Amino acid sequence: MRVAVLNGVNLNMLGLRDPAHYGTLTLPELDAQVRDAAAGLGIDVAISQTNIEGEYIEQIQRARGTVDGLVLNPGAWTHYAWAIHDALEAAAVPAVEVHLSDVGAREPWRRQSVIGGLCIATVAGKGPAGYADALVKLREHNETDAS
Ligand code: DQA
Repeated sequence: MRVAVLNGVNLNMLGLRDPAHYGTLTLPELDAQVRDAAAGLGIDVAISQTNIEGEYIEQIQRARGTVDGLVLNPGAWTHYAWAIHDALEAAAVPAVEVHLSDVGAREPWRRQSVIGGLCIATVAGKGPAGYADALVKLREHNETDAS
């Protein structure tokens, strides 16, 4: 099973951002944990991060037919970037939305998600472990589809 993990805007700043919301791990440390979790689940994972919305959209477009699942943390784009919604809709790849912080318990503007309605699940507020949860959910979904 192949999964692309796409981290969006400002996630390269992990380790410098408010630890109360985002913890203290840097992005390379988070990536290492995600790689370990994927290896344990037998998932072939590709992880990336960009601060450029168009690149993020192109990564989602490329997912169509090339991966079996997406783990998406678009950062603040989650809350307003409808072009990401449209890209995911067209890609038609099972996706899980992940947020390190508990977006539902923060500012009201963080409660809207442009991708939530297209994802098979949302995991928020579990820190780095949320990415592993997302991989498990995608694998379960993939197994259900295959049976
Ligand atoms: C985030 C939550 C977003 O609201 C925020 O803008 C981020 C990170 C998270 O992982 O908790 O940049 O997606």
